[in-house]
Amino acid sequence: MSSTSLNKLLLPLIFSSRLTLTISSRQFSKSLPSTMRFVQFKPLNGNGSNPQRLGVQLERNGDIINLSTVDPSMPNNLVQFLEGGTELIEKAKRLVSQCKSMIKLSEVELLPPVTRPDKILCIALNYKDHCDEQNKTYPETPFFFNKFPSTIVGPFSEVTCPANVTRYLDWEVELAVIIGKRTKNVKPHEAMDAVFGYTIAQDISARDWQKPTRNGGQWLFAKSLDTFCPLGPSVVMKEYLQDPHDVTLTCRVNGQTKQNASSSNMLHKIPNIVSYLSEMITLLPGDVILTGTPAGVGVFRKPIESLKPGDVVESEISGIGKIQNKIV
Ligand SMILES: *[C@@H]1O[C@H](CO)[C@@H](O)[C@H](O)[C@H]1NC(C)=O
Ligand SMILES: *[C@@H]1O[C@H](CO)[C@@H](O)[C@H](O)[C@H]1NC(C)=O
Ligand SMILES: *[C@@H]1O[C@H](CO)[C@@H](O)[C@H](O)[C@H]1NC(C)=O
Ligand SMILES: *[C@@H]1O[C@H](CO)[C@@H](O)[C@H](O)[C@H]1NC(C)=O
Ligand SMILES: *[C@@H]1O[C@H](CO)[C@@H](O)[C@H](O)[C@H]1NC(C)=O
Repeated sequence: MSSTSLNKLLLPLIFSSRLTLTISSRQFSKSLPSTMRFVQFKPLNGNGSNPQRLGVQLERNGDIINLSTVDPSMPNNLVQFLEGGTELIEKAKRLVSQCKSMIKLSEVELLPPVTRPDKILCIALNYKDHCDEQNKTYPETPFFFNKFPSTIVGPFSEVTCPANVTRYLDWEVELAVIIGKRTKNVKPHEAMDAVFGYTIAQDISARDWQKPTRNGGQWLFAKSLDTFCPLGPSVVMKEYLQDPHDVTLTCRVNGQTKQNASSSNMLHKIPNIVSYLSEMITLLPGDVILTGTPAGVGVFRKPIESLKPGDVVESEISGIGKIQNKIV
């Protein structure tokens, strides 16, 4: 059995228990990451004009391979990297397998794994349980909204609640798809070719701006205020996430579980979402697609709940990791 297939077998074990970590890490070679997890990062006390780098993160301890160190010609951001196509992806895999030195996670700040994508597209009402909690019928045709790329903040960044603009922030943990290449008019059966990988998103929403009576019923401000899209911690390449329709999404607020569901609850699956969108809009490398949130959001709780400054929102997806954002 090759070490790659061995690693694949071990992955679920590693995710299911921290205790297995010490035992199974012996199975990995010192420098080979078990999965390709892309991060953008900068040194904690960095200075200089553009300290942001692209790296590959080790699953077992979070340490990072600085791709620029191994090859100074590597791009410093994921969008440019993906624009380089399969050639650059294969090169990154080679560099990683040769790399001997890592940076400790404690020495860097993790940035959002994608910055300045061309667009963020989001599907509404895509989980059965989320439709059920608001007595909505399951949409036969998917419907979409968007968030501006400027909403993106890091996996551990603060989310701003501008008190004089909104009084009603809500949480929505979502599986985010990262597009790998220029894509137009793909059929569902070929749509997965367009997908590079997955990350975790928080679709922070200002519910008071989502009402039909506010802003003419447009969701613009509800979804696109500054800091409304925490992303991260890494983009896991698609071949290292066994089944995106069988991961558990969890959202905790101040340690209390609010959302906890399987992505098997998705109504429109990823190939159909990508295919549908690609008929409308050309998808570009680095584009982010939020695939919907499960039940448990604040607005449909009894009594209604919302986020207040000081609250800590933790969003987790099995096989990807965890992000944590404080409301300020
Ligand atoms: C900033 O960079 C300069 C030169 O590279 C270095 O001498 C200095 O110590 C750095 N400052 C910090 C706070 O890291
Ligand atoms: C990453 O590597 C580049 C090129 O060697 C270097 O300039 C940069 O400081 C490194 N970043 C960190 C955080 O080590
Ligand atoms: C959905 O229907 C149930 C049962 O009729 C009701 O208790 C609940 O308030 C409704 N929820 C919404 C969001 O309308
Ligand atoms: C909202 O509050 C911020 C900070 O307190 C202030 O800078 C801004 O001008 C205010 N905006 C409006 C529309 O009142
Ligand atoms: C969340 O869901 C998982 C899988 O369905 C289950 O094992 C776990 O107990 C749930 N956790 C909570 C806090 O409800």
